[in-house]
Amino acid sequence: MLSFRLCTTLLLATACLLTSSVVSTETAVTCDDGINVQHLSCDNGAIIVQAALYGRKDRETCSEGRPQNQLQNTQCSQIGTVDILKRRCDGRKVCEINTNVVRTSDPCVGIFKYLETNYTCFPAIQTVTCEGSLAHLYCDVGQVILVYGAYYGRLDKTTCSFRRPDSQIQNVYCSNPTPKVAERCNGKNSCTISASNSVFGDPCFGTYKYLEVSYVCDYPVTITP
Ligand SMILES: *[C@@H]1O[C@H](CO)[C@@H](O)[C@H](O)[C@H]1NC(C)=O
Repeated sequence: MLSFRLCTTLLLATACLLTSSVVSTETAVTCDDGINVQHLSCDNGAIIVQAALYGRKDRETCSEGRPQNQLQNTQCSQIGTVDILKRRCDGRKVCEINTNVVRTSDPCVGIFKYLETNYTCFPAIQTVTCEGSLAHLYCDVGQVILVYGAYYGRLDKTTCSFRRPDSQIQNVYCSNPTPKVAERCNGKNSCTISASNSVFGDPCFGTYKYLEVSYVCDYPVTITP
């Protein structure tokens, strides 16, 4: 069993929660042939991306049918890849990411690249709040909230669809990560936030949206810098 220290900046100090009940650590590899989608998922709990590489660091991965000259640079990695993955996937049960999204630059021209992501499934409290309602996050006495991820939009046709016209639930490619929930709720014992365009902006006009939040509660350990 592994344990990880999850930290977040709270004002001037860093609060860390030591989580020891890790379910599993997974690796996903997706060759960058231009149409591939990487699929991350947790049967139990929420995805937390630990590391991600877009580039190449050995000659074997994604080498099938490729000439040697496309494999020879094994020290190629794009800066910032892990941040893209974390922004899109942290806190979710399932996350699909097209390699196009990651390919913000070409870290080694002419080399055949891949996306390799290491992630862990953490137990988390996961909530869904339909647009127009209030999300309530709360912990036991003495514990504080640490938000893993929050997304406002729509990713499927069933969530928050009751009595909604078809036209409002068709767009399933609209869900933006938002830092607002973490900003407002991290370090607090409880927190309420409205799932509305006025708080999060409108990522897809005309679509009825929802707010997905995943968080943990724990006793804070404060480390002063
Ligand atoms: C993922 O984990 C494996 C096994 O620990 C390691 O060899 C690999 O370098 C990691 N990948 C990244 C992108 O850090």
